[in-house]
Amino acid sequence: MQGVPSKRDDAAGKDGARRPGAGEGTPRHVAIIMDGNGRWATKRSLPRVAGHRAGMEAVRRVVRAADARGISFLTLFSFSTENWARPAEEVSELMGLLKFFIRSDLAALHRQNVRIRVIGAREGLAREIVALLDEAEGLTRANTGLTLVIAFNYGARAEIAAAARHLAAEVAAGRLAPEAITEGLLGEALPSADIPDPDLLIRTSGEQRISNFLLWQSAYAEFYFTPVLWPEFDDAALDEALSAFAGRKRRFGGL
Ligand code: IPE
Ligand code: IPE
Ligand code: MG
Repeated sequence: MQGVPSKRDDAAGKDGARRPGAGEGTPRHVAIIMDGNGRWATKRSLPRVAGHRAGMEAVRRVVRAADARGISFLTLFSFSTENWARPAEEVSELMGLLKFFIRSDLAALHRQNVRIRVIGAREGLAREIVALLDEAEGLTRANTGLTLVIAFNYGARAEIAAAARHLAAEVAAGRLAPEAITEGLLGEALPSADIPDPDLLIRTSGEQRISNFLLWQSAYAEFYFTPVLWPEFDDAALDEALSAFAGRKRRFGGL
């Protein structure tokens, strides 16, 4: 059936089984726009980087909490293609924190059976960062627990344009007929092809916009906005979002 791609049934494992801890209303995939680090720091008269550091603690917390609640996929928006517009010093601090996070947490995440995936452009990233991202994905590839999707140097429009370029090249090479380009084929050309669409999309800090995140994949996501600033996002805040989600009635255009 159109609009309900078959990858939904494949993604959680061959049988699509729920993870331990998941209940009837548990979303399979939660995606989070982690926003408000800067405001959190400014409120405390601290430099913005202190907010990003505190945000890293929140990442650790939410990974543990999502895992314990039987969520299968957790996507975290950690650096957007538009974030390059920030002052060079802040960009460099954000790059430094990603390196720090992978170096300090990769072994523990691997022990927790977490599988790491990275979406976003590798072009434009320092070689050292690309190597760390590759290492994280490579080491955890066969893990069967929570899939942690790190959206880094990620922009949804760029990702869709890249998929269109790829399909156009296939057509130009005579390997693909234009009529064969369907929603399914375009979805398969995205780096998230093997990840089910997000069920619940959370944005912290009170902003109510999508900021070029998962535009294609969020077609039927439930949105949840909270004024909580990302460094303060904790288990209780996640549980509030999950219970709001459990109360939603999804219709996917039907009745
Ligand atoms: C989110 O916090 C982290 C990134 C976007 C990298 P911000 O840095 O956007 O914090 P605010 O929105 O300025 O408070
Ligand atoms: C979105 O937050 C990007 C990330 C959380 C990584 P921003 O703070 O960059 O978004 P805008 O600029 O407020 O839309
Ligand atoms: Mg922000």
